Amino acid sequence: MVPVRLTGPRLAIREYHHTPGDVDALHALFSDPEVTRYLPFEPRDRETCADQIALYLEEAMADERDTYRLAVTRLTDADDSADATPIAHASLTLGKYQSAYLGYVLGRDVWGLGYAGEIAGLLCDLAFGHLGLHRLAARVDVDNVASAKVLTKLGFQLEGHVRHDLLKGGVWSDSYLYSLLADEWPGTGG
Ligand SMILES: CC(C)(COP(=O)(O)OP(=O)(O)OC[C@H]1O[C@@H](n2cnc3c(N)ncnc32)[C@H](O)[C@@H]1OP(=O)(O)O)[C@@H](O)C(=O)NCCC(=O)NCCS
Repeated sequence: MVPVRLTGPRLAIREYHHTPGDVDALHALFSDPEVTRYLPFEPRDRETCADQIALYLEEAMADERDTYRLAVTRLTDADDSADATPIAHASLTLGKYQSAYLGYVLGRDVWGLGYAGEIAGLLCDLAFGHLGLHRLAARVDVDNVASAKVLTKLGFQLEGHVRHDLLKGGVWSDSYLYSLLADEWPGTGG
């Protein structure tokens, strides 16, 4: 396994560590009902988050890795961000025909700073650069206006409205489907 390590102007993306610090950080993120509002799961307890990190590390060790679930930290002056506390979560789930879905989840204390755009941009670099993918897609709850703006700003195009895409707490919700192709991403020819 080659561990993922991406750096942007303000943020770094790395593999999770199975440490109390990373478990606490993921728990802080995934236990907040405001954060999970548009995600396909209910708030999670600490034990579930610890199990999740174990799963992410198993996925990372797979012979043909198709799932990247990664920790996002602030980039520090000392460049010690490999061990800095995660403030967000990022994911890439590979599918058929050189495609993947991307995702990002930020703690409420760092909303509104433009971080999601930087995270999604780094995931595009990974997907279209190192992984050589052709298509990236994202599904966004129709009410998640901030996330739709993040994708649109990066050049993602709206493909359609997916009806009853998610069933949560007995309630159906619809999503917008967005996509970006490799030749539309500036780093790979767009
Ligand atoms: C949605 C989310 C990713 C946005 O990340 P962020 O870093 O806070 O986004 P930004 O600061 O870049 O804001 C994006 C844009 O949405 C706007 N915005 C924020 N909240 C908004 C709201 N409730 N309604 C309308 N626009 C909103 C911002 O003003 C900004 O617009 P601008 O680029 O024109 O200035 C973040 O809030 C989050 O992680 N939420 C919980 C998990 C989640 O929903 N993940 C996405 C699943 S698809």
